[in-house]
Amino acid sequence: MADLYAVMGNPIAHSKSPAIHRLFAKQTGNDIHYQAILVDTENFPEAIHSFIEKGGKGLNITVPFKQSAFEMADNLSEEARLAGAVNTLSINTDGTLRGDNTDGSGLITDLANNLGIKLSAMRILILGAGGAVRGILLPLIQQEPHSITIVNRTVQRAEELALAFHDHFSISACGYENLAGQTYGLIINATSASLTGKLPPLANNILADSGYCYDLAYADKPTSFVKWGLNQNARIATDGLGMLVEQAAESFYIWYGVRPDTKNVIASLR
Ligand code: ATR
Repeated sequence: MADLYAVMGNPIAHSKSPAIHRLFAKQTGNDIHYQAILVDTENFPEAIHSFIEKGGKGLNITVPFKQSAFEMADNLSEEARLAGAVNTLSINTDGTLRGDNTDGSGLITDLANNLGIKLSAMRILILGAGGAVRGILLPLIQQEPHSITIVNRTVQRAEELALAFHDHFSISACGYENLAGQTYGLIINATSASLTGKLPPLANNILADSGYCYDLAYADKPTSFVKWGLNQNARIATDGLGMLVEQAAESFYIWYGVRPDTKNVIASLR
C-alpha cells in the first residue's frame, strides 16, 4: 500500500506541494499517496489526529497552521524551535509527532546552489518581521553574512526579532524611512504585500550594484517586488518557487532519507 502523506492549510487548493512530492516520488521510486487537505481554522488538532488514525506518515503544514503544528509536536528540531513554527511533521511509529522547519534551509539551497549567490560577507536586508522571517533567520545567520538588517512597517516587531536572535547574531532593526543612503547586496521580501500587488515603501538605490532580490512569495506572474528588483537593475530578481521546491525536498529527505533532484522539478513547474 502507498505511504500516506499530505499538506494541510487554509486555503490549500492552490498548493503545488502535491505535484512536487509526486514528482519526487516518481523520480526516487517511492510509492506515495500525497493529498492536499483543507482544514477548518478551528479544527487543526482534530485533523491531525484523524490523519494519524488513517495511518498517515508525514505532513507538510502551511498557512495558517505552522504555529499550531509547533505547539502539537512532541519533539522539535533546533530550526523549528527557533522559528516557533513547524512546516514538516513526521508521525513516529508510536504515534508521537516530530516537528521540523525546512523553510530556511530551502531558501539557502535555492540562493546558494540554484542561483549561485555567495552569502558569506553579504549585506542582507529583510523586508517584514512576521512568522516567515523567524523561520529563515537561523539558516541565514549560519551562512555568516556581513550583516542582517530587518526593516518593518511596525518597527517594534523587527526589534523583537533582533532580540530573539541576539545570542546568535547582531541583527539591526529599523523602519523603511531609515533605509535611504544604505546599500544591500541581497534584499529578501518576506512581507505579505507582494501577493496583493503592493510594495513596502522602498527608497531607490538601496540595492547594491549587481545585487540580488528574492521574494519568498511566488506567483505565476512576476510579483511586485520582483518587478521592483528588475527596475533597480538587480543581477537576479526572482520569486520563491525554488525555495518552495527545496523545502519540499528537505521534507522528503526527512521522510525517506533520499534527496530528490530538484532542478528538473523547478523547471517543470515554471
Ligand atoms: P507571515 O507569517 O507570513 O510572515 P505576518 O506575520 O502577517 O505573516 O507578517 C506579514 C508581514 O508583512 C509583516 O511584517 C507586515 O508588516 P507589519 O508587521 O508592520 O504589519 C508586512 N506587511 C504586510 N503588508 C505590508 C505593506 N503593505 N507594506 C509593508 N509591510 C507589509
